[in-house]
Parts: sequence; C-alpha cells; structure tokens
Amino acid sequence: MGGEGKTRDSKVGTRKKTFPEVQAERLEQAQRTVLINCPAKISEKKFLKYLSHHGKINSHYFYESYGTYAVVEFSEKDSIASLQDVTRTPGVEEECAVPFKSRLFTLTLKNPSTQAADQAPVHCHKQSTILVSDLVQKLCSADSVSNQLYTLMDEYQLTEENTKLRFLVCSLIQEIACAYFPECTVKPFGSSVNTFGKLGCDLDMFLDLDEIGRSPTRAKTGPFYMEYQMKRVPSQRIASQRILSVIGDCIDNFGPGCVGVQKILNARCPLVRFSHQPTGFQCDLTTNNRVAMRSSELLYIYGSLDSRVRALVFSVRCWARVHGITSTIPGPWITNFSLTMMALFFLQKRTPPIIPTLDQLKDLADAEDKHVVEGHDCTFASNLNKIKPTENTETLDVLLSDFFEYFGNFAFKKNSINIRKGKEQNKPEPSPLYIQNPFEQALNISKNVNQSQLDRFVALARECAWILQQEDKGNSSLSNSQPWGLAALLLPSVASNCVKGKKRKRVQASERIKSLLDSLKINNANSLVNNGGKRTFSSQTR
Ligand code: GTP
Ligand code: MG
Repeated sequence: MGGEGKTRDSKVGTRKKTFPEVQAERLEQAQRTVLINCPAKISEKKFLKYLSHHGKINSHYFYESYGTYAVVEFSEKDSIASLQDVTRTPGVEEECAVPFKSRLFTLTLKNPSTQAADQAPVHCHKQSTILVSDLVQKLCSADSVSNQLYTLMDEYQLTEENTKLRFLVCSLIQEIACAYFPECTVKPFGSSVNTFGKLGCDLDMFLDLDEIGRSPTRAKTGPFYMEYQMKRVPSQRIASQRILSVIGDCIDNFGPGCVGVQKILNARCPLVRFSHQPTGFQCDLTTNNRVAMRSSELLYIYGSLDSRVRALVFSVRCWARVHGITSTIPGPWITNFSLTMMALFFLQKRTPPIIPTLDQLKDLADAEDKHVVEGHDCTFASNLNKIKPTENTETLDVLLSDFFEYFGNFAFKKNSINIRKGKEQNKPEPSPLYIQNPFEQALNISKNVNQSQLDRFVALARECAWILQQEDKGNSSLSNSQPWGLAALLLPSVASNCVKGKKRKRVQASERIKSLLDSLKINNANSLVNNGGKRTFSSQTR
C-alpha cells in the first residue's frame, strides 16, 4: 500500500482531507491570489517588495504562456483591494478598454533598458509534459516496470502550481458570473481535481448555483410565507442553457484573457467552451452538473486510496493517447473517463481487490454522505480514513501486464463493466462497449464507441500483454539501448504489429493463426524489447 507521492497538504493531522475540504481550501486560497503578466527579466526581490506593500505574500511562482506570468497568493483578501486601488486602467489610443477590473494584471518596467539589463530571466515552473520520445528515454533508465509507471506518473501528473492555477481561473470566472449571481461558486471538476489529471488537460468548470436555490433553515415564524418572485422556464435544461448563454456572453465580452468563446448549448450537457490565454487552459464551463461533481469525488477517493491506482491509470491513458485509442476530438473513440473506469474495474477484480466497489463505499457512508441528485443515488463514504486498506501486494509489473491480458480477452460482446458491483453483468443493449454509468445507472458512458475502435483497443491490448509476458519469460535479449517494458509499449511499432496481425487473422482459423502469430512475434520481439540484464521486477508496491 502506498504513500501518496506528491499530493501535498492532503492530510489534517493524521487524517486525510475529504474532497470537499480540499476544494473549499483551494477555492478560498484562489480568492486571495492574483495573476500578473510581467517581464521575463525582472528582479524577483524588487517585484515581491513592491507587491508586499499591499500585504503579506504567502507564496508566488512564475510560469510561461505567451509571456511570463507570476501567480501571487496574498495572505489576506484585503490585499487584493489595496492592489486594485493603485492599479491604472490601460491607456489605449485606438481601441477602447472594457472597464472590467479583475485580478489579472500587467506589470511593466518604468525604464526597461536599465531595469532589465542586468537581470537573469526568472525561474519558470513547467506547465506541460515532456515529449513522448523524451519520456521513452527516461523510462528506459528505470529499474523495473513498476518504477517506469511511477516515473510516467511523476512526469505527467498535475503539479501543485498547475493545480493552484486551475483554481485561480475558476475564481476569476466566478467573479464574472457573480455579477449576475452573487452567491454562485465556480468549481473545477473532472481530471483537474480527480487525481488523474495530466499537465495540459482541459479545465472542466462547474457553475454552482445551488446555494441560491437552497431554502433558509431558519424556523418560519408568523402567519406568512415569503418567497422570491422568479422567472419560470419549462425545464432545468432550459434554465441551464439560458444561464450559460448569458454568462458565455459576459465571458466573451468582458472576460480578460478569455478568447474563442463558443456556446455549445445543445449538447447533452450544455456548456460554454473558451481558451484562457494567460494560462493556456482550454475551459469547459457547465452548470447543473452535480452528478459529474460526484464522479470527480469518487475518482478522487479511488485515486487517493492506493498509489498503484493512479500509476496504472496514468500509464494506460498515456498508452491509449500515443496509439490514438483516445483523441482530443470527440468521436467514436474510447474516452479517458471510460478508460479510467475500465482500470478501476480491473483493480476491483483482483484477488484480493485493490479498491472497493461503489456499493461497498455506499455501505460505509454516513448520514451526511447521502446524496441523491435528480433521483440518482450518488451516495458513498467521503471519509478516506474509513476505507480499509487493501491486503493486495501485487506489483505494477504484474498489474500492467494483467490489465492488457484481461481486456485483451474480455467478453465485450456479452458483458458490461460495472464499478458499482465490481462484476461483469449481461449487457442490457448491444453497444460494442458497455460501461455502466455508476450513478445514472441506465446509461452507458461509452455508447459513442464503435466496433472498430473497440477492436483496435483489444488488438493493441493483446499485443502489449504479449510483449510484457515475453519480457517476463526473459525471451528478449537485446542491447540496453532498446526500449523495454512500458517504454516498448509506447512505440508506434506496437500498433503496426497489430495491423499485420489482423490481416493474417482474417485468412485462417483463430487458434492456428494465434500460434503462428506468436512464433512470428517472438522473432519480431527480438528486435523490439530488451531486458539486457538491466531490468528487475520490483517486489514491493509504492
Ligand atoms: P480529460 O480527458 O483529462 O479531460 O479527463 P476528464 O475526466 O476531465 O474527462 P472530460 O473532460 O471529458 O469530462 C469531465 C468529467 O465529466 C469527467 O471526469 C466525468 O465526471 C464527466 N464525464 C465525462 N464523460 C462522461 C460521460 O460520458 N458520462 C458521464 N456521466 N460523465 C462524463
Ligand atoms: Mg476534462
């Protein structure tokens, strides 16, 4: 069972913080934070001294995205007002500035030639992942497949700084939405917060108006009831569309740094999509999306229970992206969300299971964990400390290989994947891939996936299981420079071997062909994989 690598501040004393606690803390922190576009060459000391006239600074860092930016967190919210008091509106000659004052600033030098001349550029934190080719190289110098998976996760996962930036963008968008709905909050969900986010992933935001709709708890006294007069619309969906339409216009017209605003209001879940230029985040703003918020919390729990969960999911997601199993464009492909569900299901099926089923998490729930959203039961224990650690000690070497073996041979034609039960069930309808939505239980989250995309996934999974098994048997004998283990699975040749295999398979009966293929592959593998006496199979989990 693992320690939680890089997740900082995730504990209260000895107790791990809950998802709502982490969210509330980070949202509050974001409200005390400003974003400043500044020269790349600047005296950090003078910069901090200048800003500290407005109050104590808790933390700061720089990053690059179409220029250099500083993220500065003050200790008190009042410091922001003090800074805004002395900030000028831009003097523009030909254009006119929309006078919306936000927490996004530009800082310039009074005398650039003298002030920047003797300064080195400030140190910038990385906000994106390394190239796959560099990753493959890095993976080759790990000492086990397990450590390759952890290396990949360390390279890909969101950093503390990037996470802070995501909350800051939500907080900046909240300020715009607050013009209409002063009590609203804008919260991140999806991979920005569910522990499976990769540097560069989109920023899914939830405009939460529920506090406004909540009735006061004060006892009603006197002979009268008082209620707000409100505009009525035929459905919640129409209300969401109207709200997002107006907020989308505000973001488009007044939102500093927000560009390319698209209102996608006819989608199953209406949304406003835009780019936030100063951070480079692709943002999707939705509302009335409480079930997705619960899914994010559920994934957060699974991702926090055991470090093998995240390591496996990161690697499988990366593998799928490299081979075009997943895509950034919507289409008939498997999504990251579906892949994550498959990995979780696989981990529930181990003996003993590595993570509990959703029904088991529901059995551990307290009264305050009870959540029913639009008739859907979204109840599960949010307190991580209540969940008994697994006794399973399998290594990631085994888990990765078995993941591919398992899904390479899964009865997709007959069975569905269900993380609520942790068991395969008969498919209720004939979609090629059926992954039951854990909360809206009549829905299939992978309904979009067509047969040919599923076939590609299966063929690749088999190929990869085979490669890893050959390494395990010591069947590879190549020089140290050849990628091995996870690195070998990320090579394009893995996919081309599958295509060759598929063509052959069409011609003859499957079993005979399989053995023929296997013998071909053994020859092939001799030019593909390596153990070179370098790699060991680690015997412990992290
Ligand atoms: P990335 O690919 O890294 O963005 O992963 P993600 O988990 O953020 O996925 P995405 O941005 O596509 O969706 C954001 C969140 O919406 C997910 O985490 C889920 O909670 C939810 N979601 C996405 N796709 C589906 C779906 O098909 N069905 C349901 N019910 N929820 C979904
Ligand atoms: Mg996302």
